[in-house]
Amino acid sequence: MKRFFILFFVSAAAALAQGNAANGKAVFEKVGCWQCHGHVGQGGNAGPKLAPDPRPLPVIIAYVRKPGGQMPPYTAKVLSDAELTDIRAYLASVPAPKPVKDIPLLNQ
Ligand code: HEC
Repeated sequence: MKRFFILFFVSAAAALAQGNAANGKAVFEKVGCWQCHGHVGQGGNAGPKLAPDPRPLPVIIAYVRKPGGQMPPYTAKVLSDAELTDIRAYLASVPAPKPVKDIPLLNQ
């Protein structure tokens, strides 16, 4: 019984640390990251690519709190660390693009 509870807490903590991609997508839309970085973090005119293969969570949190260039800062008041964890989970869930060899038109 004791072991069951320990397992339960360990997996709940792991789930929290990994974040919730669906909520991350909603937050990414709500706070406007998409306006500069694109809806799937693909990058655009106003911001660089964030996904696929996003940077580690501590790097993302540090940058968003204190950006160095054009990007506006987001304080913990408007965007919590938990929400940023979810945003990273969302960015990590974005699939990599197809390799060129799998696009027939480009292989004629
Ligand atoms: C107004 C446009 C704008 C918005 C909104 C914005 N960003 Fe950015 N972001 C940028 C730009 C431009 C850069 C490139 C560096 C710079 O100029 O600050 C950047 C850089 C970053 C980087 C560093 C990328 C790297 O590889 O070094 C991260 C991480 C990031 N943004 C995440 C976010 C997240 C998460 C949000 C939403 C909470 C967000 N940004 C909202 C414009 C924006």
